[in-house]
Amino acid sequence: MSQMKHIDNIPSTPGKFKEKSPYNRLRLHFSLTKLTFWSFVFLGLIFVFFFRSPSSSSSSPAASDLSRRSLRTSSYDGPAWEKRIKASAKVRSHSGISVLVTGAAGFVGTHVSAALKRRGDGVVGLDNFNDYYDPTLKRARQALLERTGVYIVEGDINDVALLKKLFDIVQFSHVMHLAAQAGVRYAMENPGSYVHSNIAGLVNVLEVCKNANPQPAIVWASSSSVYGLNTKVPFSEKDRTDQPASLYAATKKAGEEIAHTYNHIYGLSLTGLRFFTVYGPWGRPDMAYFFFTRDILKGKSIPIFEAANHGTVARDFTYIDDIVKGCLAALDTAEKSTGSGGKKKGPAQLRVFNLGNTSPVPVSDLVSILERLLKVKAKRSVMKLPRNGDVQFTHANISFAKRELGYKPTTDLHTGLKKFVRWYLSYYGDETKK
Ligand SMILES: NC(=O)c1ccc[n+]([C@@H]2O[C@H](COP(=O)([O-])OP(=O)(O)OC[C@H]3O[C@@H](n4cnc5c(N)ncnc54)[C@H](O)[C@@H]3O)[C@@H](O)[C@H]2O)c1
Ligand SMILES: *[C@@H]1O[C@H](CO)[C@@H](O)[C@H](O)[C@H]1NC(C)=O
Repeated sequence: MSQMKHIDNIPSTPGKFKEKSPYNRLRLHFSLTKLTFWSFVFLGLIFVFFFRSPSSSSSSPAASDLSRRSLRTSSYDGPAWEKRIKASAKVRSHSGISVLVTGAAGFVGTHVSAALKRRGDGVVGLDNFNDYYDPTLKRARQALLERTGVYIVEGDINDVALLKKLFDIVQFSHVMHLAAQAGVRYAMENPGSYVHSNIAGLVNVLEVCKNANPQPAIVWASSSSVYGLNTKVPFSEKDRTDQPASLYAATKKAGEEIAHTYNHIYGLSLTGLRFFTVYGPWGRPDMAYFFFTRDILKGKSIPIFEAANHGTVARDFTYIDDIVKGCLAALDTAEKSTGSGGKKKGPAQLRVFNLGNTSPVPVSDLVSILERLLKVKAKRSVMKLPRNGDVQFTHANISFAKRELGYKPTTDLHTGLKKFVRWYLSYYGDETKK
């Protein structure tokens, strides 16, 4: 994380280079040459400025900064680049689909991309490799996908020109939209990143999809957090979702409403998946099961939240392989979009599914399982659940996903954590021993 920031912070004109610069010698020449020289430098700067400015309509400084960064770091445009994309998008099974996976270097994106590729679908990834959490983990997932034949384009979902270009190169039949700013508490630190990725970014993806010919079907990640402060359990798709407890939840809820709009106006086929606390190998370091593992191994105390009156905090932990099956089933049952040329031709499919495990586990039980698997006793420090985004419990009713997708989770928390811990120790093995 700090490494990337460090590179970005190096000033572009370090002072020590000034002495050797040609400017000193130029001073000896007559003033006309000097004037011509500076005019060229000035014109050059103006040219570079306009040429490099992103064409994106985004007005927030954070957004334009990001897309400029993506222009700088990605080497798109060359024929070699297009060739890699086409190879990655190649469909190998006769009933295969062609999928653009956004957030492909993320936890869920990596697993979904690998699963699609394995069964013979064409897959192209897109990810901006941001440093919300350690980007070296994202790079390691990228290397993993590269070995299975999936190429990840490095860029931002807000980069309209890039998205259009990808649709020019490949006729995607489906988009699996997983790129987002995740995490609940980080919203207080960086609210803009949620608006940038989860709202502006989603709209950009949908705009490009609606203009594509043919329009792809879209499956995207919403979240169980849309149930917010609901107390009726289990959470069913028809329950109210108008009392979010975090900005993250609010942006996911907004996403569901935006999806409704694009389905209604443009005939885009849209399926939203409300994931319930996904965990597993290659997971996200900002999630409790992950940093609990790290801190238990380090002998650091871990915070265990408790609701008012010693109320239990529980989560419906869902193993990544079960989530992947749900994602693939959603893609396979998605009907075609009905619009063309940016216009709706008829009603299109609009769905929302819970993808959970239907068995909430208290966070203290999660810690006990980790202690047994790691063979280390945790230093627990019980704290009151802060009111900054986390809800007391989640519990999915998955009967709708079961009926429509054949979704049936099969991994319990102990089995899933065992696989996570095995991966964790092999990935971080050396560091843990230090
Ligand atoms: N993991 C969970 O428990 C969980 C629960 C509910 C919902 N979700 C949702 O599922 C999706 C995947 O989650 P995850 O756990 O894999 O998270 P993740 O952070 O590991 O993956 C998201 C990826 O998207 C990329 N990204 C973010 N903003 C981007 C942008 N503007 N342009 C391009 N790439 C961008 C990130 O670099 C990251 O690699 C997200 O939409 C998330 O909100 C996850
Ligand atoms: C679960 O959701 C279905 C609708 O998909 C509903 O018919 C059922 O009553 C719900 N079950 C519970 C226990 O709430």
